Amino acid sequence: MTQASDARKTILTGDRPTGNLHLGHYVGSLRNRVKLQEEYRTFILIADVQALTTHFEHPELLRENTLNVVASYLAAGIDPEKATLVRQSGIPEIHELFVYFSLFVTVNQLQQNPTIKNEMRLGYNKGHSLAFLSYPVHQSADIAVFGAHLVPVGQDQVPHIEEARDLVGKMNAQYGTELIEPEALVGTAQALPGIDGQEKMSKSLGNAIFLCDEDKEIRAKIQKTKTDPARLKIDDKGHPDICTVFKYYEAFFPEETAAVRQKCENGAWGCGHCKALINERLGAFIGPMRETYKRVRADEGYLWGLVNRGTLSARETAAKTLDHVRAKMHLKA
Ligand code: TRP
Repeated sequence: MTQASDARKTILTGDRPTGNLHLGHYVGSLRNRVKLQEEYRTFILIADVQALTTHFEHPELLRENTLNVVASYLAAGIDPEKATLVRQSGIPEIHELFVYFSLFVTVNQLQQNPTIKNEMRLGYNKGHSLAFLSYPVHQSADIAVFGAHLVPVGQDQVPHIEEARDLVGKMNAQYGTELIEPEALVGTAQALPGIDGQEKMSKSLGNAIFLCDEDKEIRAKIQKTKTDPARLKIDDKGHPDICTVFKYYEAFFPEETAAVRQKCENGAWGCGHCKALINERLGAFIGPMRETYKRVRADEGYLWGLVNRGTLSARETAAKTLDHVRAKMHLKA
């Protein structure tokens, strides 16, 4: 449906509230969102109901983690005056649209979704519940209920946006609804490796540097970060392209990479030197974010105020969409 009052295109992005956000989130999505909020009508969804599909035993963590995620957003520069923060559980229209969307997808199709397959392989959902299997459909409802044109996501989420396009197309064809077909806006940034240098940075793998880490935590993590394994002596020539610390320079301090590369390849700097410098740089980069995080995280009333205000206003949009859908589906008097 068109948004007569606002000519801008709408974007929707979201996160499962499963912990604090880290540098991988920053590179992969947060810094992009900070730019996009200037230009687009922006909804940011805290997908607490979706988080239950993998963490259903621990609903008590959702409340804390919602606050952690919101504080991390503000730390990273998301402006709640520009982006609408939405708590998924506060928008029951999503669940209703999910049921209608479910009419147009088979269990077999969901089992073939590459991201679902991969997540099952990784043991995300041992019981393989229906809620887990169908979360791409639920996520399609997140997107369609707010009429998002664009969904900024990482590569792993692309199959879900395809699913959303497919479902919107089928609903529109079958019932004459005018839901907007969303498009994925796939980030170009390479996934940031964790300090283990093996896997992408992820809280659950214990290889993450968080936006709220203290300097001493950053130092301890950088101390453990994998560098070029072939470098034994300080003046051995290094190979920055296989060094995780160098990847951090590339992601956050691109203006330093030429000098660092040269010192490493010549054997002029040992890994200790390079680590001392990145500690300093990361300390200066994370410091202001951590301070914002701590300040706002201490004021739960303020954070809930933002979430509740955003959710209430988002719900008006969702309600309009469902009103339209119900009318087209002969579900209204
Ligand atoms: N599945 C996304 C993730 O795990 C989170 C999410 C939920 C989402 N709903 C969304 C992302 C809608 C984009 C649009 O990161």
